[in-house]
Amino acid sequence: MKKTIELYFSLLCLIFNSCHVFAAIKNPALLKQGMVVSEQHLASQVGINILRSGGNAIDAAVAVGYALAVVHPCCGNIGGGGFMLLHLANDKNIFINFRERAPLAAKTDMFLDTKGQVIPDKSTVGYLAVAVPGSVLGLDTALKKYGTMTRQQIMAPAIHLAENGFILAPADVKILEKNVKSFRHSPNVAAIFLKHNQPYQAGDRLIQKDLANTLKLISANGPDVFYKGRIAESIVNASQKNGGILSLKDFSEYRIEELAPVHCMYRGYSIFSAAPPSSGGTTLCEMLNILEGYPLSHLGYHSLASVHNTIEAMRYAFFDRNSELGDPDFINNPIQHLISKDYAAQIRQHIHSGQITPSSQLQAVKSHEGINTTHYSIVDQWGNAASVTYTLNSYFGAKVIAGDTGFFLNSEMDDFTSKPGVANKFGLIQGASNAIFSGKRPLSSMTPTIITKDNQVMMVLGSPGGPRIITATLQAILNVIDYKMNIQQAVNSPRFHHQWLPDETNIEPQTFPENTMKKLQAMGYHLVTGQPWGAVEAIQIDPITKNMEGANDMRRPAGSAVGY
Ligand code: GLY
Repeated sequence: MKKTIELYFSLLCLIFNSCHVFAAIKNPALLKQGMVVSEQHLASQVGINILRSGGNAIDAAVAVGYALAVVHPCCGNIGGGGFMLLHLANDKNIFINFRERAPLAAKTDMFLDTKGQVIPDKSTVGYLAVAVPGSVLGLDTALKKYGTMTRQQIMAPAIHLAENGFILAPADVKILEKNVKSFRHSPNVAAIFLKHNQPYQAGDRLIQKDLANTLKLISANGPDVFYKGRIAESIVNASQKNGGILSLKDFSEYRIEELAPVHCMYRGYSIFSAAPPSSGGTTLCEMLNILEGYPLSHLGYHSLASVHNTIEAMRYAFFDRNSELGDPDFINNPIQHLISKDYAAQIRQHIHSGQITPSSQLQAVKSHEGINTTHYSIVDQWGNAASVTYTLNSYFGAKVIAGDTGFFLNSEMDDFTSKPGVANKFGLIQGASNAIFSGKRPLSSMTPTIITKDNQVMMVLGSPGGPRIITATLQAILNVIDYKMNIQQAVNSPRFHHQWLPDETNIEPQTFPENTMKKLQAMGYHLVTGQPWGAVEAIQIDPITKNMEGANDMRRPAGSAVGY
């Protein structure tokens, strides 16, 4: 088997003249009982220990959620929010929405100056950027409803890691280093995340006593202490003192909800993914439906035709995403229309071989009416699967920690449209459907996804990366289903991205061979090469042997896929 794969990739290497693409491929972890894949190896270990001790995928998902809040503090969190997609062994699919909500005092124009211009940084840094966090209620509810272990059992590993510290790997330090300037800005942040006001080095131990105390409070008292007790009081107090608008009522009224996931079929596979207020599942399904009409495997991996069709699918789906979608409690999302096969066929009629569609022309064919997140995937021995993406929005969120709570608060207010037509942190230009409103949840791109075939889990995946989450997830799926890669190859392969506006195709370094680049440019594509993005943390299960293959994205070397 290993030999066949190697042969296959040597061949691809020759055909596409792009051996660099596959240089970093390692063999995926391959096991049968349970698998956990996350962006931080200690968190993956916490998850697998839970599975080994008899916990199910949901127990492990909650334990990993709390562990990442300690060992991956840029992104793992209790001060943010996200989505948990579950496939239960009884074939039920459940989507838990614990996305943050805008404070009740939030106003549509709160980030605009008197001339109606967006005020830089106001929606990204400091307390005005903070939406009401959902992670604690989301994780606790999932555990209560679908887990088998106690909160104390589940939270003990995270508390241990916070209280006794953990050794920072080079990749952990790299993320901390990038944020030293903002850590220095707040004494209570510098006291934890700097060592005598200097950056931590690889091999240092990061101890987080304040966070350990907060986690102990939650472990002993449950979410009430976060939403109605001491933790809410600390956050509201800090917010009021620092120009924020968070109130105790925001916390006591915070709710999570359970929704049906978005569902579509792609070449006989059942795709379950995130429902609004995430745009992830809808946009993913719209792209897959468009692409189903093209023989991608025949056209070939990264052939000119398959790349053209894929970029155009991205462009059309993001046009709909940015114009139409928002919090379902506030607007009607035309999901069934957007993910219908008919609509995809209509779009395909406007995609012409060898010819791009400038983004400015898209309105004519309409027929109807921010990056540093973290994802983890878990499968257990009984056939339960958890696909979880949660976030502080940007690295370390709004860069603030309330008093001695020890955890960062999110900057999720930037995911709203501050002003229609003006780009947010991710360059996304969005419409009024995602305008700020009191108590509303901002539109997300998080795309936790589970794929089944004949009711058996076949793939569990998702990624961080703002809007690039959706296209990173798409490409990992195409790489497996159409291009027949193993899961590690699918995850590591270089990516490209288009989001309608700006009208450019972002590519990772050395994604395409030089001649493909030239042909794409000659067609009119504006190619912009940038740093690698995303981190698809994925599991694939062989339908016959039931072998589980876990793949930690090589772009996140601190992560791991562990199984047993
Ligand atoms: N904050 C990134 C997202 O929700 O998509």
